Amino acid sequence: MSPLQGKCVWITGASKGIGRALALRLARDGVGLALCGRDLQALSSLSSEARGLGSPRVFVKAFDLADDAAIVSFARDGRGTVGPADVLINNAGFNPRKVPLAEVTLEEFDAILAVNLRAPFLLTREVLRDMIPRKAGHIVNVLSTVCHFANETMGAYTAAKKGFEGLSGVLLKELRPHGIRVSAVYPGGTDTTFRANQRPDYMKPESVAEALRSVLVMPDDVIVHGLTFRPAAETNF
Ligand SMILES: NC(=O)c1ccc[n+]([C@@H]2O[C@H](COP(=O)([O-])OP(=O)(O)OC[C@H]3O[C@@H](n4cnc5c(N)ncnc54)[C@H](OP(=O)(O)O)[C@@H]3O)[C@@H](O)[C@H]2O)c1
Repeated sequence: MSPLQGKCVWITGASKGIGRALALRLARDGVGLALCGRDLQALSSLSSEARGLGSPRVFVKAFDLADDAAIVSFARDGRGTVGPADVLINNAGFNPRKVPLAEVTLEEFDAILAVNLRAPFLLTREVLRDMIPRKAGHIVNVLSTVCHFANETMGAYTAAKKGFEGLSGVLLKELRPHGIRVSAVYPGGTDTTFRANQRPDYMKPESVAEALRSVLVMPDDVIVHGLTFRPAAETNF
């Protein structure tokens, strides 16, 4: 039997890419799922697929993570439908284009920070309402190898992910006395719709999902602080 069987896992950015692959992998473990994205059609078909693979309960909600009230209502409805999160995967993220910082508009900058930094803060605060009293839980924050570098043309995205990294590190310390684990993961290039062009030389989302799942099934006395994994095509350090 899977060590995750019967747990309740919440995943943001589940409509495609890494989040979708992870939801389908965890469905095979028999976990209940609360999933979000903006594409309702993609989420609805994911819900049917996840049930078919073994997930006992699936809740989906389509909304923009830049909408604070929608995040709070996702948390309320998720709690009421599939139950409080045992695991939260803050996975959703985006980078609209690669452009020097001098050309980034204020609107773009704000939108990038809203989804990649502000939204995971808000949703984490919501799930902690249940995790802290229950003295249990695991929060996995999907960062990026951009946190290890200063890549030109990815300034706002890098700032958001590094900000999220800081938040994740502080949470790890603050939540340990409450019995809640916090892990940061740093994927390298993954062949998803994250970028317009296909990259078959990058990791498959299903492979990244396996790496993320490995963080969830560690023995209870192991806390993964940070896990970096990359495709063979990436060799810069
Ligand atoms: N792909 C890579 O090379 C790579 C590398 C390192 C880290 N990452 C990180 O991995 C995570 C997953 O990325 P991915 O590669 O799977 O990208 P993806 O295929 O583009 O999927 C991104 C997911 O985030 C959701 N999302 C984006 N903006 C949103 C918004 N405003 N409101 C609600 N949901 C939103 C999307 O949902 P909708 O489209 O339905 O809105 C989608 O489900 C991100 O945090 C990304 O930064 C990716």
